[in-house]
Amino acid sequence: MEGGAQTWHYGLIAKWWAEFNDDFRPHEIPYFQRYIERDGEPALDVACGTGRLLIPYLRAGLDVDGCDVSADMVALCREKAAREGLSPTLFVQAMHELDPARLYRTIFVCGAFGLGSTRQQDVLSLRRFHENLEPDGTLLVDIEVPYADGELWQYWLKDERAGLPEAIGRPRSLRPASDGSELGLRSRIVELDPLAQRVMYEMHAEQWRDGVLEAEEDHGLSIGLYFKNEVLLMLERAGFADVVVQGDHNDAEATSDDGFIVFIAKKR
Ligand SMILES: C[S@@+](CC[C@H](N)C(=O)[O-])C[C@H]1O[C@@H](n2cnc3c(N)ncnc32)[C@H](O)[C@@H]1O
Repeated sequence: MEGGAQTWHYGLIAKWWAEFNDDFRPHEIPYFQRYIERDGEPALDVACGTGRLLIPYLRAGLDVDGCDVSADMVALCREKAAREGLSPTLFVQAMHELDPARLYRTIFVCGAFGLGSTRQQDVLSLRRFHENLEPDGTLLVDIEVPYADGELWQYWLKDERAGLPEAIGRPRSLRPASDGSELGLRSRIVELDPLAQRVMYEMHAEQWRDGVLEAEEDHGLSIGLYFKNEVLLMLERAGFADVVVQGDHNDAEATSDDGFIVFIAKKR
């Protein structure tokens, strides 16, 4: 477990992200960009992955660094940036161990808070973000609320949970990668603990070439499930002030219908 985080973003899964995830949830990219542009440089993309957000920001000339617990994701991000003649500052670090070389006016975490870490580590991460912001700096952290996904939500109920782990399915159809191979993934929920507010997923990845299975891997992902009010308390305990909660990367106040919500907090 690299950096003390149980995440599945390694090997073939990292390759999948680099190949196919640039177009995932495109509205998130201009959302964070507006905060960086509005007096928010330098900025740090925590859990930058393979650069879905970071690379467009670099392309736009913004001063943004990136870090991620997965050396595989960081290496692929670096390669993708280099192909465009970009050479960002990237480093491999779990967010609860964040120790960058400079302070930031904006720190943002997209699709990663609670991934692979314990609750204590998440508390620590928020403190690290606070320490590594300049005075008046801004933190943006999003979460997917635990009730966003009906498949997952059913397992908060004891009777439904008896059906876990889910059955092993078939890999979804294979997708052609840029190196001539084909990649397929399948995932399942293994365990959900409502008291600990934690779910464990398993992902199976396969790489095929000319009809022959070249490689297969299994990875686990543990996710801490948070509700709005507890994140507000955690932010307050970490020293943040003036916290605003917006809906799914849309500048509007969060509502009960939002599957994702974004916390925007200030270091005063
Ligand atoms: C769903 S991907 C999101 C990547 C990127 N932020 C994006 O939106 O495209 C989650 C990323 O979080 C990273 N990650 C997971 N747990 C982490 C942790 N505890 N500290 C830092 N990075 C972590 C993974 O390696 C992966 O790159």
